[in-house]
Amino acid sequence: MEYPEIVRLAYSAREKSYSPYSGFAVGACVLAEDGKYYTGTNIENAAYGDTVCAERTAIFCAVKEGNRKISKLAIVGGKAGEECKDFCFPCGSCRQVISEFASEDFQLILPGPDGELKEFTLAEILPHHFGEDSLK
Ligand code: THU
Repeated sequence: MEYPEIVRLAYSAREKSYSPYSGFAVGACVLAEDGKYYTGTNIENAAYGDTVCAERTAIFCAVKEGNRKISKLAIVGGKAGEECKDFCFPCGSCRQVISEFASEDFQLILPGPDGELKEFTLAEILPHHFGEDSLK
């Protein structure tokens, strides 16, 4: 079975990962409201805390092109130089950034072992999230 385009693009982006410190390479791809795909990879730094995750790189690329909503996000990750073995769930900070720009029908798409694809809603990955309405 062939993966959908968004997953294939996430795998291609992973090849550009700059992850010399963790040795963990991540790729991400979002489908934005302009109908285009935007990809990202993790970009590490010798000052470890300045690392940016793949999901945020992809989302910020979409936003800088004028998008405010993303309807799909695919993430793939695993040891650099090896095939991805398991689901790569987004970290807490990325979940918060996803919640800022996720559309109502947002889907997180994650490939797992044996070609399995799992889908999650925003509420499943970040229930009771802090958002715009929390500030009212
Ligand atoms: N990483 C991501 O790119 N996305 C996540 O959601 C989790 C972690 C990256 C950051 C760091 O470069 C490496 O994976 C190990 O934490």
